[in-house]
Amino acid sequence: MCHKQSAMSGAFSFQPFDEATRRNPFPVYAQARRECPVYEHPGLPVVSIFRHGDILEILRDPSTWSNVFPPPPGFVRPDHLPPSMIMVDPPEHTRLRSLVNQAFTPRRVRALEARIEHIAEGLAQELITRGRCDFVEAFAKPLPVIVIAEMIGVPAEDRDQFGEWSDALVENLGGGILGPPPPEVIFRELAAVEAMREYFAEKAEQCRREPKDDLLSALVAAELEGSRLTFDEMLQMLVLLLVAGNETTRNLLTNAIYTLIGHPDALARLRAEEDLIPSAVEEILRFATPVQCDVRRLVRETVVAGVRLEPEKVALLWLGSANRDESVFTDPEVFDIARADNRHVSFGFGPHYCLGANLARLETQVALRVLLRRTRAWRLAESEPLPLHPSLIFRSFTRLPLEVEG
Ligand code: HEM
Repeated sequence: MCHKQSAMSGAFSFQPFDEATRRNPFPVYAQARRECPVYEHPGLPVVSIFRHGDILEILRDPSTWSNVFPPPPGFVRPDHLPPSMIMVDPPEHTRLRSLVNQAFTPRRVRALEARIEHIAEGLAQELITRGRCDFVEAFAKPLPVIVIAEMIGVPAEDRDQFGEWSDALVENLGGGILGPPPPEVIFRELAAVEAMREYFAEKAEQCRREPKDDLLSALVAAELEGSRLTFDEMLQMLVLLLVAGNETTRNLLTNAIYTLIGHPDALARLRAEEDLIPSAVEEILRFATPVQCDVRRLVRETVVAGVRLEPEKVALLWLGSANRDESVFTDPEVFDIARADNRHVSFGFGPHYCLGANLARLETQVALRVLLRRTRAWRLAESEPLPLHPSLIFRSFTRLPLEVEG
């Protein structure tokens, strides 16, 4: 329901699960920003928020808008699993985040560039040799898995298993908000968490005996000090890093290739002007926002865009809409790889601003550089529509069939 419109005649309706809306939400977003910036989902304690300014206000205020949620219906959190940092508020959040911040500073991430390039070169060569492939399986999925697994200190032979766990954990991300998730999905999520827990328990034991120069050893050191990190918090941190880093970057890489196919002039310009790659990546993040929606829980009464909201509302913050807000971006519907002052919110904002933003940017810049240098052309190998990602939170495809000319 829309407050402005309840006084008027027409009814604005927003169905985020509707397939047509998910494929092209932008006209609905634009209408919402104009006419209904705060939409109350009928029969649910859920509101959707669409404007850039409102979303920034919410994300910068964790004392009003919390990251702590009751578990979705049917989901029983195992007692021994504490919430990870993305599910807690300051000051607890500050304590947990400070333990991993160091590994993701711009300087530490830049040091990974040569290694990321080497991995991307290997995957690109494989694409060229095959000529025809699913880009998601062949490139977008393995690149971030290999990079984060190496940072953590996970051996190469275990990486495929990670991809599978990551898939199971994000399959229904956000799905509990507008209705209960199917029991089999919950079962797969819990099974993946337990398997990862067992896996890391053993790996951490090895690090205690023989510390290395990786993230796992750094966390084990904090855990050994006792007061800084408990064993289960450490495990949850590792689960979070794997999940938050893999699926998101996979979707960004997929969206990058797909968006450039849809904008051949931009692709040709990027081939000619490699210096534009960093701003092109920012524009892909804005225009084809991989994490389409962020979520918060209201803990005290507040007002957003003139609408009074009661505590316990869950807010869906449509980052993909904020990124097309005409009050912030000139010609927001235009894909401009040289766009200046690109204040997109694709990595969130405030205390929970994406920890891996520097890494995701670097991986995508390097991937584009390698793919542009090593190929003469890429095009879709099947006609559209492509299969959409099942989660409400993500906006991408699960498959991107490509023909690649080396
Ligand atoms: C294109 C790639 C990525 C996108 C679009 C993305 C997006 C986001 C967004 C929107 C948030 C904010 C969540 C909130 O407000 O509650 C977030 C948080 C987070 N991201 Fe990313 N992310 C990406 C890549 C990565 C990578 C590569 C890593 C790590 C290896 C990572 C780790 C995290 C973590 C740990 C958080 C939680 C931070 C906190 O709670 O303080 N992300 N990400």
